[in-house]
Amino acid sequence: MIADRRAFILANTRLQAPPHTPELRLWLADEITPIWRLTEEELGELGLPPPFWAFAWAGGQALARYLLDHPDEVAGKRVVDFATGSGIVAIAAAKAGAAGVLAADIDGFCAAAVALNAAANDVAVRFTDANLLDAAPPAADLILAADICYERPLAEAVMAWLAEARATGTRVLIGDPGRSYFPKSGLERLAEYQVPTTRDLEDAEVKRTAVWALP
Ligand SMILES: C[S@@+](CC[C@H](N)C(=O)[O-])C[C@H]1O[C@@H](n2cnc3c(N)ncnc32)[C@H](O)[C@@H]1O
Repeated sequence: MIADRRAFILANTRLQAPPHTPELRLWLADEITPIWRLTEEELGELGLPPPFWAFAWAGGQALARYLLDHPDEVAGKRVVDFATGSGIVAIAAAKAGAAGVLAADIDGFCAAAVALNAAANDVAVRFTDANLLDAAPPAADLILAADICYERPLAEAVMAWLAEARATGTRVLIGDPGRSYFPKSGLERLAEYQVPTTRDLEDAEVKRTAVWALP
């Protein structure tokens, strides 16, 4: 079992710029870091759930890019980044001038990952490992969610929860590369990018990825 998660992240990842957001620096896995080569079984023996936080997913890269290029969407706003992973979207929101950012993820390693990544970019991001889906959406001006439609139960629960937030006036932005359970209608497309990724994670080296708003 891994006692010191911060030390584990520092030893197993590398500070690097996600290709679609070169102005950010994140502690991420790549082919030259040891975590990349661990199988799911080996990860299990270490007590480590699949390390989603060690990658900048296509949806996260797209939504972060959009926020960095459209600071008017976030400046002065109270922002929640649901399913933050590495914290890429939360960090982009903070850099773009959010009044406050809460990053949420149920993976306990994300607390250390987000803290390291926020520090690397010189921004403040709060973190919770509470499952926000268990309650009504928190009071916020803007809720962000990137790459959350890769499993049906999660996708359905998140989209219902985001719709609830939207119904109370919260703006909702989603980054998604066309995952299997992403809704095919009912959203407004704001931007589309060609996001570089890797064949070790995805079925393509570049994923067409869009940023959507709940209308
Ligand atoms: C594919 S990753 C996306 C991470 C990040 N948003 C990005 O785009 O790089 C999905 C993340 O969803 C998180 N997750 C799954 N269920 C969740 C829940 N109920 N609440 C918060 N996070 C959740 C996982 O732990 C994982 O970090």
